[in-house]
Amino acid sequence: MLTFWPLKKSAVSNRRKDVDYYSKFSPSPLSMKQFLDFGSENACEKTSFVFLRQELPVRLANIMKEINLLPDNLLQTQSVRLVQSWYMQSFQEILEFKDKNADDEKVTYDFTDAVIKIRNRHNDVIPTMAQGLAEYKETYGTDPVVSQNVQYFLDRFYMSRISIRMLLNQHTLLFGGKVNPAHPKQIGSIDPHCCVSEVIKDAYENARNLCDRYYMNSPELILEEFNVKEQGNPITVVYVPSHLYHMMFELFKNAMRATMELHGDATEYPPIQTQVALGTEDLTVKVSDRGGGVPLRKIDRLFTYTYSTAPRPSIDGSRAAPLAGYGHGLPISRLYALYFQGDLKLYSLEGYGTDAVIYIRALSTESIERLPVYNKSAWKHYKTIHEADDWCVPSKEPKDMTTFRSF
Ligand SMILES: Nc1ncnc2c1ncn2[C@@H]1O[C@H](COP(=O)(O)OP(=O)(O)OP(=O)(O)O)[C@@H](O)[C@H]1O
Ligand SMILES: [Mg+2]
Repeated sequence: MLTFWPLKKSAVSNRRKDVDYYSKFSPSPLSMKQFLDFGSENACEKTSFVFLRQELPVRLANIMKEINLLPDNLLQTQSVRLVQSWYMQSFQEILEFKDKNADDEKVTYDFTDAVIKIRNRHNDVIPTMAQGLAEYKETYGTDPVVSQNVQYFLDRFYMSRISIRMLLNQHTLLFGGKVNPAHPKQIGSIDPHCCVSEVIKDAYENARNLCDRYYMNSPELILEEFNVKEQGNPITVVYVPSHLYHMMFELFKNAMRATMELHGDATEYPPIQTQVALGTEDLTVKVSDRGGGVPLRKIDRLFTYTYSTAPRPSIDGSRAAPLAGYGHGLPISRLYALYFQGDLKLYSLEGYGTDAVIYIRALSTESIERLPVYNKSAWKHYKTIHEADDWCVPSKEPKDMTTFRSF
């Protein structure tokens, strides 16, 4: 049930003013090195607190302004209103620390508590937003301009969410008082020596479990490493293992589904080949399947948030996690790759199979957050009336060339 707090008009207008004020600042992207410094020996809860009480409202306000640019009918859906109310509530809670004494331990302690509460409040943003979009689509249908704006918005909105969660997680993991027993060497959620193959094998095993449950069988994994920098040594990188895991898990699920669907009742399936290469600039992971591929015309569509060729899973959570079906796997995985200046691309040979490639920056100095900013260019994206295409549309009918004959 959606509940709204009864607020006086003046309180609402003050809140809006605060959002306007903070949205005028640009978010400050952090580098992997800066994240590590926050968590190094001289880690200081006070420094993190002082940074976050300014930076979190800035990141929240920047994206809150952008939510307001969505079509009115979409903003009016229960789900989108709920998401907006979460953002407003969290924004307010952080602002309460604005003038508090950073040297007071009670203040920093309460702040860490507030951060945990905020993180939990936003756990279900993605399914709730998806629900809002589904409601909107059902009532108002689809229109290419709205779809384009929604895609543009969701890429930015979810990227902002990834970045805000990264800040919240780092703070609670570093200063929440508990050492993570499973990963004592990690600095918050960052592993300075993240072993890429280990994460890949872990993601493969978990995807394989789902695949076995659904298809009673699964393709094997062939994993190869090419460490150009230090030949023969396992490839490691300064990275967030949970982000790499997320991307690999999604790619394996997709590769397995395509393989199993194409090879039907065969007793053996072509394996999924995964290659990892570490060069001087890039760490690249390629996942190759022989699941029949996708035509070029459809490749861009696979990165839209509602595109899926799988039947829609039930949303009540009563069944086991599905192998596919939400259409969020690829677009969200690409955001994780882009977040630290990498990328995720799909190359397909229709009729044969698909190569999905993840690019990660090999040097941690190059891994810097990529963040959306609310400014005039962003605003224009939503407001510009999309004019006719500036390339000719080929006619389906063969042209009657007789009219061009010279006499
Ligand atoms: N390796 C692949 N081979 C063939 N088709 C693929 C491959 N990867 C993705 N696709 C196609 O792209 C669509 C979108 O993929 P995506 O991972 O974004 O969503 P999904 O797998 O349908 O659902 P989920 O959100 O659960 O991942 C899939 O439904 C499938 O049709
Ligand atoms: Mg998928």
